[in-house]
Amino acid sequence: MTIKDVREIIQNLKDLPAMPNVVVIALEVIKNPNSSAKQLANTIENDHAITSSILKIVNSSYFGLANQVTSIDKAITLLGFGEIKNIILSFAMKPMISTQGGKNIWEHSLKTAIASEVLAKKLGKDNSDECFALGLLHDMGKLVFMLYNTQAANEVLKMVSKGVDILLAERMAFGFDHTIAGYELAAHWRLPKLIQQAMKYHHRPQMSEQPENVGIVYFANQLVKEPFKKPYFDIEITSKLRMTINNPEEIREEILEKADLLLKIIEKAEMP
Ligand SMILES: [Fe+2]
Ligand SMILES: [Fe+2]
Repeated sequence: MTIKDVREIIQNLKDLPAMPNVVVIALEVIKNPNSSAKQLANTIENDHAITSSILKIVNSSYFGLANQVTSIDKAITLLGFGEIKNIILSFAMKPMISTQGGKNIWEHSLKTAIASEVLAKKLGKDNSDECFALGLLHDMGKLVFMLYNTQAANEVLKMVSKGVDILLAERMAFGFDHTIAGYELAAHWRLPKLIQQAMKYHHRPQMSEQPENVGIVYFANQLVKEPFKKPYFDIEITSKLRMTINNPEEIREEILEKADLLLKIIEKAEMP
């Protein structure tokens, strides 16, 4: 498979279940720094089905709000623009991924998203909601392989379960790994540059133009890995980034607990 093939497959990704309009707009909002929270609220509220699903998630125990929230506007005021954007994105990714036999990708993506957000907060970064989006989308390149040849993609997973490095297994099966496929997909979707970087460099963040943010996705990805075994992080990467995570086992517990809750809630909230 060549880069041209990758691009061609991606061109045909419109075969995927159509994304609800509100999601397309949410992605627009992420791309455009001038969009306002009010604009997003108005768009969402035009779609009653998605509004009720989002409000169900907002009112769930995951957020632990004291009072029942009945409008998107209020939800944005209480939880913040970034948090609502994250809910919409997570919700949007679900049918896209699970229809292609990619339930594992979906679960792993959500865990990495939460891990990225938690780590960003712990490291005192002010863009933790952006980090959530980076984590959520980081492995979308795997989706390209699933769509192109599900059988070969499953073969790759089998090799990985036997201990073969995933990037190596993918290169053997497809001639490319999912970081390249992901980068092409991100470019095709015209996603913001930082998301493109995370998709391309989450396995080697030291090569990225934005190593701090992509580094968070690297650590997040490592923290939610199954099986979770030592060494948790690559020594070369940690020393180049000059970043380290104290108490990784403890942080992992915290992340998985949060992820479990959000996964259940999103699974229950039906996609309109
Ligand atoms: Fe990856
Ligand atoms: Fe990953």
